Amino acid sequence: MPIHINKTRKKYSKYIWQRNENVPLETDVTTITLQSPGATYAMAVTDDGYLLHLHWGAKVTGDLSYILFGKNPYTLAENLRDKGTFMDSVPLEFPCHGTGDYREPCIMVRDKNNASTVDLKFKGARVSPGKPKLDGLPATFSRFAVTTAEGSPGCSASACSPDCETVIITLEDDYLKLRAELIYTVFNKLDVITRSVKLTNFSEDTIYIARVLSACVDFDRSDFDMLTANGSWARERIPCRSPLHRGKQSIDSVKGESSHQSNPFFALLSHNADEDTGEAYGFNLCYSGDFFAQSEVTQHSCTRAVMGLNPFDFSWKLEPGETFTAPECVMVYSSEGLGQMSRTFHDLYRNNLIRSEWNKKLRPVLINNWEATYFNFDTDKLIAIAREAANRGIEMLVLDDGWFGHRDSDNSSLGDWVTYEKKLPGGLSKLVSEVNALGMKFGLWFEPEMVSPDSNLYRTHPEWAIHIEGRELTQSRGQYVLDFSNPAVRENIKAQMKAILDAANIEYIKWDMNRQLTEIASTYLPVERQRELRHRYVLGVYELMEWLVTAYPHILLENCSGGGARFDPGMLYFSPQIWCSDDTDAIERLKIQYGTSLCYPASCIGSHVSDCPNHTVGRITPFNTRGNVAMVGTFGYELDITKISEEDREKIPAQIAQYKKYAHIMRDGDQYRLSPGFHGISPVTMNYDAFIFVTKDKTEALLTVTQTLARPNYPPLRLRLRGLNPEAQYKTSGGEVYSGSALIQCGIEVPLSGDFDSKQVYFSKL
Ligand code: GLA
Repeated sequence: MPIHINKTRKKYSKYIWQRNENVPLETDVTTITLQSPGATYAMAVTDDGYLLHLHWGAKVTGDLSYILFGKNPYTLAENLRDKGTFMDSVPLEFPCHGTGDYREPCIMVRDKNNASTVDLKFKGARVSPGKPKLDGLPATFSRFAVTTAEGSPGCSASACSPDCETVIITLEDDYLKLRAELIYTVFNKLDVITRSVKLTNFSEDTIYIARVLSACVDFDRSDFDMLTANGSWARERIPCRSPLHRGKQSIDSVKGESSHQSNPFFALLSHNADEDTGEAYGFNLCYSGDFFAQSEVTQHSCTRAVMGLNPFDFSWKLEPGETFTAPECVMVYSSEGLGQMSRTFHDLYRNNLIRSEWNKKLRPVLINNWEATYFNFDTDKLIAIAREAANRGIEMLVLDDGWFGHRDSDNSSLGDWVTYEKKLPGGLSKLVSEVNALGMKFGLWFEPEMVSPDSNLYRTHPEWAIHIEGRELTQSRGQYVLDFSNPAVRENIKAQMKAILDAANIEYIKWDMNRQLTEIASTYLPVERQRELRHRYVLGVYELMEWLVTAYPHILLENCSGGGARFDPGMLYFSPQIWCSDDTDAIERLKIQYGTSLCYPASCIGSHVSDCPNHTVGRITPFNTRGNVAMVGTFGYELDITKISEEDREKIPAQIAQYKKYAHIMRDGDQYRLSPGFHGISPVTMNYDAFIFVTKDKTEALLTVTQTLARPNYPPLRLRLRGLNPEAQYKTSGGEVYSGSALIQCGIEVPLSGDFDSKQVYFSKL
């Protein structure tokens, strides 16, 4: 069993307010240990009922409680006259605010007296196979799922053999009558722990939650680097690595989306960690809104790492009997560097997070009209693109922004999801039939969460935009954000989308979200719940997405947010792919896709071949390089195929064949990054980027190497490969034969010529 509860001590708990579950709680607990193949996560309960952290890291066996119950016991009984010192130094699993721990807390409230203190004590723990669903929130699930009565992934011991096990640890504050259930899941084959928290108010008074973070790890060391993935529009998720220093280093979002600026990911790395060696602790929040993550080096040179919902501008009214569920934090341990950390995230997300039937399937090669036409298109132009695309082997036309209302620019019509007849006479259904008649599928862009001031929806329901009555409302991209906390708003958008989807054969949707939240207030929520809107907005988005993927399970859904502002695990639960960035330049994409690969698999990275000079950076790169880079993701085209050079057009069929031959290796295989990494280095000055994908059975591999700027008078690059079977012989696409051990230890030369040149080398096991 991966989870072990040790009950060697006297019975601890006396009193539990309510217990309506069938499974009895284990109440005489000393330690709780979660074991995965290469890692151990261990906790202990003190005599005083505090849940303390013992260890997270390399696998250890045996009773670890000596760490806490040794010569200097971490028990309050020994420290009663100085509880403050005790609280401020013990490693805590779910630190509370107000009783002497002055490090970052996981929980704060405003109780009936407007006091903020919480003091949670252990009441019991319950182990069960599989993993429970989180109310209204995306989360990882057991792969051996049975459909429960609620139609959700879940698992019971009798029905299946789950790939994970869950312990729910119940803590309670006797004063507040507030219960916190800490939910930990450990996976059998991956070094992953997931954590989330459920708070229940058992008192007779309203309690306001002022903050609730999902995870805290109190490390007993501080010799770490913190790795984050930061950026901006068109340069998302650029790796940023810096040593921890005394005090706090944090990342967050306050924009209502996970954001371009900071991805909800960070890792703590031992100073020596590189791709293959050293320790890496990765944290990723399964959430698409405002998040907070922080590493804090304490007075005792320990590190408190926390992650969860951003407490900034947050408050949640918890009425008697109500429960609040915090999002899931995914935590990965690797003793083999960053590469292994990433591969663990990739496996978890492909197996236990992405639900779409497209997850492990070859996606249709699409052509998107955005960079081809922007708003300037009509049926004739689209059909011309589709016809030429079909002739070259492209399988789906995606009609991007501008097909609805009277939208000729980004100044109007969001919220009016009816066909723009001037551009598309006869409606979408006519266009879709014509595209289908060419042998192509059809995909469509929506931006469901938005409304333009110039729209029928806004004219009819101005109160549905997020705004403050009487205060000027900030426009961004000329649009406002709809109040998705309001069920009537969601129903309206749902009905409009349904009408479009039911009237035409639409097989793909790009769900976009192009602005951040401002003047955050809701006409739907009562005054005392206004500060819930940031979170309720995200919950509303999830609810509409859940409807979409349930009602139209075969539609391929691609998420997007002004490029990659919502590239997070929350979105992956609904869509198997996410548009990575509006920057489609192949060289810039090397860096963006490198940073994205830190925790997200190539199978979900939306990536297209676009025209040159590139629309964002003006760079001219070879067509072949653009193809090689776009293949590390959900390959497609975003250009006017009727206008590019005949030379490039003629390359498309072979490029598609190449993609289809290799797609399974990158979609389902293991990724090994081979370049020094873009930690603070620009893609152009780094000289080259390289990575290899290897199938799980190690019989096939694909190496991609891209030169950025050529350098004079250097010997050719010889790359030492990773992931291959050292005992096997491999034949390359060029016909040469190498032993796996030689490829790993001595490497292979990849001749590259000129700026932006790129090569793929395919290896098959003999
Ligand atoms: C966002 C997306 C683009 C495109 C435009 C349309 O910027 O990231 O791909 O869909 O919106 O307005």
